[in-house]
Amino acid sequence: MNSDIPEPSVRIDGGALGVGDGLLMLLREAADPLPAGAVVAVRTSDTSAIHDLPAWCRIMAHTYLGSVAGLESSTFYFRKGEADAIAGPKPDWGVRLPLRADGELHTRDWLVGRVANVPEHTTGSTGFSPRGAVVESGSPTFDFEINDKSRVWASEVADLYEQATAGQWDASRDIPWADLRPLPDPIERAVCQLMTFLAENEYSALYVPAKFVPRINPQFAEVVFFLCTQMFDEARHIEAFTKRALANGGGLQYSAASTQLSLKTLFDQHDFTVASFLLSVLGEGTFLDLLKFIEEHAPDPVTAEVCRRARADETRHVRFGMAHVRYYLGLDPTHYDELHAAVRQRAAGSGHALGHGSEPAYPGSPRDPRGRRPRSGPARRWYSESSRTHCRDARTSATSPGGIRLHAGAGGGDFTAAYAELHVARARIGQSCFPIEKARDDSAWT
Ligand SMILES: [Fe+2]
Ligand SMILES: [Fe+2]
Repeated sequence: MNSDIPEPSVRIDGGALGVGDGLLMLLREAADPLPAGAVVAVRTSDTSAIHDLPAWCRIMAHTYLGSVAGLESSTFYFRKGEADAIAGPKPDWGVRLPLRADGELHTRDWLVGRVANVPEHTTGSTGFSPRGAVVESGSPTFDFEINDKSRVWASEVADLYEQATAGQWDASRDIPWADLRPLPDPIERAVCQLMTFLAENEYSALYVPAKFVPRINPQFAEVVFFLCTQMFDEARHIEAFTKRALANGGGLQYSAASTQLSLKTLFDQHDFTVASFLLSVLGEGTFLDLLKFIEEHAPDPVTAEVCRRARADETRHVRFGMAHVRYYLGLDPTHYDELHAAVRQRAAGSGHALGHGSEPAYPGSPRDPRGRRPRSGPARRWYSESSRTHCRDARTSATSPGGIRLHAGAGGGDFTAAYAELHVARARIGQSCFPIEKARDDSAWT
C-alpha cells in the first residue's frame, strides 16, 4: 500500500461493480455513518472506476487519495469530506404510506411528505425526476411548456385516475359479439353510420390529450397519468365502434366534411384548459347524451353494450374536464372570459367555414354525409331531444343570476352567437347543466 495513504476506517469489496451500476450504493452505505475525515477504501475490477471515482469524489466533496493497482482489480482511497456535497433539501426517509383497511394503496395516498408538495409553478429543471425526489444540481433543463399547476390540475385527479385504472375493459372479450344477428339493411346501415361518426369523434378525443402529455411537466404526474388512461379509453372506443361497424357485414360508412372541420378546430387548440373545456366539458358532455340515446334504442345488444361501456368512460372524462375548469376558475374567475372567447371563436370559425350562418357541427351533432341534420329515425329523435335540452339549458341560464340569454333557437337566426352563448351557459361552473348533472349522477363510476 502506498505509504502516503492512511489506514482506512472501512474497506469495501465492490467486485466488478462500477460507479454506473451499483458501486455508489455500497460506498454510500459504508461512508454515511463515518465521521468527516475518515478514510474509505474500495476495491473493484471495473476499469472505468479510475476515471469515475475521482469525479464522484469531487461532486461529493470528498478528497480522492489515489489508487493501488492489483492483478485483477484496483483499490481506491478517499477521505470523507467535511462539507455536505448536496446542500439544501434532503430526501424523505421514514415516511410510510398509510394502507387502507382492505390493504389497498391508492394513488391519492401518496400525497405525503415531499410528494405532497405539488408546486404552483415549476420549471424544466426537475426533468423526469419523480415529484419528491431531490434533484442534483447540474441536471439538464427540459423544455416542458406547461409548468403552472393552475393550467392542468384538478383536485380530484388522483381519484379519477384510480377509477380509470379500476374501470378498464376489453373490447375483444367484454362485448357479446356472438349475440349479433343480421339486421334489416336500413337499420344496419344506420348503425354503421353512427359507428363511423362515433369513431371519428373518438379519434379527436384520443389525439387532443396526446398532444398535451409531452408538454406537461411531470411534477403534475397525476394529470399525465389520467390523460394516459383517457387516451387508452379513446383507443378502445375507436376499436369497439369500428368492430361493431364491421362485425355484422355493414362496414364503415361516410365521414362528413363538417364533422372533420369541427374536429380539426378542436385539435388545433394550443391551450390545455381551453382544449379540455371544449373537448371534455362541451364535446364529451354532449356525447353522453348521444351514447345514452343509442344505448336505449339500439337494435342489438352489442351496440347497446359498446355504448354503455363507452359512456361510463366518457363520464369520467367529463368529470375531469369539469374538475379542471372548476379549479382554474376557482383561482381566478376572470379566466371565465378566456373560455367565453374560445367558445365564440370556435363557433364563429365553424360557422364561417361551413359557408352559412346555421348551426355548426361539433362532437355529438350527428349529420349525414352531406352535412345535413337527420330528418327522421332514431338520429333525428336524438337530435331533437338534444336540441330541446340545449334550449332548456339556455332558458335556465337566462333566468339565473348572471345567466346568458339565448338569442335564437336551434333552427334559425344568428345561430353562431346563440351557439356560443349556449355553450358558455352550459359550462358555467356551479350551474345546473343537464349533461353535467347526468355525469355526476352516473352510477357507473361513482
Ligand atoms: Fe371516447
Ligand atoms: Fe372521452
